[in-house]
Amino acid sequence: MTDRPLYRLSHTVWPSRYRLEIEPNLNESKFDGQVFIEVQVREAVSEIVINALELTLHEVRITAQDGSEFIGEVSYNAREEQVILTWPTVLAPGLFTLWIRYEGILGSTMSGFYRTQVPDRQGNPVVIAATQCEQTDARRIFPGWDEPEFKARFAITLIVPADQRAFSNGKELSNTLDQQGRRRVEFAETIPMSTYLVALVVGPYETTVPEMVGDIPVRIVARQGFAHLTDFAKQAAVDTLKYFQDYFGIPYPGDKLDHIAIPEFAAGAMENLGCVTYREELLLLDPNQSSPIEQSNAMSTIGHETAHMWFGDLVTMRWWNGIWLNEAFATFMELHATDALHPEWDSWTLFSHGRSLALAVDGLKNSRPIEYPVGRPVESWAMFDLLTYQKGASILRMLEQYLGEEVFRQSVVQYIRRHSMKNTEASDLWDALEEVSHEPVRSIMESWVLQAGYPLVLAQLTDDGQNLVLSQKQFRYESSGTGQWQVPVTVGVGISDGRVMTERHMLGSHPVSMVLPEDVAWVVVNRGGWGFYRVAYDEELSSRLPAALPSLTAIERYQMLDDVWAGVLAGEVPIRLAVQRWQALSDEEDPDVWGAVTPALSLINAIATDDQKELMAHLVRRLAGPLLARLGFQAIGTEDVRRSRLRGSIVRLLGTLGQDQEVIATARRRWHQHLSGQDRLAPELLTPVVHVVAESGDEKDWELMRQESKKATTPQDEQRYLFALARFKRPDLLKRTLDLYLSDSMRVQDGTIALGVLFGNRHAAGMTWDAIEAHWDRLLKRYPARTFEYFLMPLAQIMDEEVADRAIAWLKDHPIEEIERPIKQAIEFQGIHRAFKHRVKPHLSETLS
Ligand code: BES
Ligand code: ZN
Repeated sequence: MTDRPLYRLSHTVWPSRYRLEIEPNLNESKFDGQVFIEVQVREAVSEIVINALELTLHEVRITAQDGSEFIGEVSYNAREEQVILTWPTVLAPGLFTLWIRYEGILGSTMSGFYRTQVPDRQGNPVVIAATQCEQTDARRIFPGWDEPEFKARFAITLIVPADQRAFSNGKELSNTLDQQGRRRVEFAETIPMSTYLVALVVGPYETTVPEMVGDIPVRIVARQGFAHLTDFAKQAAVDTLKYFQDYFGIPYPGDKLDHIAIPEFAAGAMENLGCVTYREELLLLDPNQSSPIEQSNAMSTIGHETAHMWFGDLVTMRWWNGIWLNEAFATFMELHATDALHPEWDSWTLFSHGRSLALAVDGLKNSRPIEYPVGRPVESWAMFDLLTYQKGASILRMLEQYLGEEVFRQSVVQYIRRHSMKNTEASDLWDALEEVSHEPVRSIMESWVLQAGYPLVLAQLTDDGQNLVLSQKQFRYESSGTGQWQVPVTVGVGISDGRVMTERHMLGSHPVSMVLPEDVAWVVVNRGGWGFYRVAYDEELSSRLPAALPSLTAIERYQMLDDVWAGVLAGEVPIRLAVQRWQALSDEEDPDVWGAVTPALSLINAIATDDQKELMAHLVRRLAGPLLARLGFQAIGTEDVRRSRLRGSIVRLLGTLGQDQEVIATARRRWHQHLSGQDRLAPELLTPVVHVVAESGDEKDWELMRQESKKATTPQDEQRYLFALARFKRPDLLKRTLDLYLSDSMRVQDGTIALGVLFGNRHAAGMTWDAIEAHWDRLLKRYPARTFEYFLMPLAQIMDEEVADRAIAWLKDHPIEEIERPIKQAIEFQGIHRAFKHRVKPHLSETLS
């Protein structure tokens, strides 16, 4: 007897190799399959329990090495997503081959083996079938041991219509037409890997000419009509593959690497070994017509999935509680690769937004520890969030900066080497890090990983300014917490003569005190800005911060603004101080630092009276206006991409929250010229300009944007215009948008995201919510419940209390188990923002003038 829960498979029978043959029937939305599984029976058994979901098993047989053969009887345990195969005799320990002939469903919900139909450029339907297995939908594709620990080799064959192409994890070994005119594509066997990494893709695809990285052919795969959008991805795929081969110093674990764009895709991308799948908009772009952010998103995504080939595919978590490390690490590595390959993008500074989002959620009482025990795999669905990706990546970065990049890298290499083709727990990584660094990594990291939240580091001068004392208490917007962390703190001390000294401390539950030199000008805690914490300075230190600004990096300036605003939301810092800090923005030329204040300005805008809105707009124009005058609407000659991004942010800011009539008029004029083809907008201005036009748009603009989304030649343009329809202000136009978003013409991957943009528009919130209630059941049928998160999240910022209360009441009566925590978080934020409104609104006018 073991105490293994029913939903976990027994270890008495272990698979080593699957030979899988699948024939999809694209017209009837089903597929036929047969699988031979080589297994080792470790203890005598009379039944074998494996995973299968919505599969019908037609024939089951098992063959022993001596050739004896037994027919299995099948019974289904749908609740546990298992089938029980019962044998007429006891199977003695030894090697067997299990054979199953079965059929399954080609669904439409972007999981398992699914089918999608999209129009091509001529409007003719294109049918594509693809798989998404993570976490536990491989069991919808073949019966087997669908837990990450049961690694096995996969030899896959696809049988498809003659005019289709087929892709899977391994290299194509043969591709032949059979007598019935079907195409039979046989793929090479993989290394031992987990079932969640299996991939099948079928459709009218085209591939780029393979580019060799050593002996690995790299290709981008796109449907017909998109081949001209593959150059960027191909370069990124080749560059990141080389980068990681160098970083890990371990060969790529597959025999080829395809990156495939799928027109309906649940996640952003998926790291199937050798056969990575993406949303089209994250892979296919035109380098001359895409913005720096669109390019960096594509590159980061490609980098992220490529990093998983080692961290995730070659070395895999034992169980789903470990998924956070997989994702946190890939996110961390995606930044490394992007930063190394495109230093001009300054990816770590861009990541400030990600860190800040995680700091926000993690300041809630409804936060969670990064890692927690997971029973059923569904319990780990809640791990695919900001706390895993952004907090996880942040604390890895914090650790890496503390230990040193080379020590960190060597530890990771040791970990990957030691556990190649096997499974791990987070503690295996801490072991490797401790061995190489000789630092107590486990206890440091466990303080960040196993408890929710993070510290507010208090910095105080004592003894007449001779000493700096650092201490910690948990940061929370409301209520209080008692968490304690091991906080790597780097303190920067500016001396009057211009020199800057840095000191490092490990701050625990006892305050740390440091003696300051005599001629101190300023002190900055969290030097470098890579700490996952906030800082609160005493009054004296706070008043000296402006003097530090010229010596600070953009990440530090970002974090400083973010900390002050968090203090305002927590009711600890007067809004007056935040507004005072914003004055420095008139000299600020970093796009991300500007981005740090946008959420604050939007929130103020949402609570303000009309007069107060005008005061705020005036403030925005005063700070950003001169900057746009310096930048110009158009770059002169070539310029730094960050400067282009800055122009985009400033145009958007002035044209929306700043209500700058001149910028609005210019944006409108330039957009019409752009559409007429006489004067194309620079790519970084496209989205900002389209948003400005939509906010001030009329019926003609709405129609034009709708047409543009239909005839778009890039996925980015299609989405830009489709989602911009949610940014109009006129109720009649917003109603049209709503009808469109509710219609079945929306792709399943986009519908709930679009509704979220609309719900977040204060001119449409009430109407959108009414529709969501009215269409609730229909929405639940069409969209995976998990994706409801996309349209429920704006609830955090909706400042029309009547609408917000109605939504909260509805969600109480219509709980969605899959996203219980994000809903609680949104409701908690709603309360925080409401309290902010009541606190601040009465004297907002004085503050802003
Ligand atoms: N493994 C994930 C995809 C995934 C997420 C599968 C959730 C199942 C459930 C993949 O590596 C990933 O993290 N994708 C990201 C994109 C990435 C660039 C952050 C995604 O889908 O958002
Ligand atoms: Zn990932």
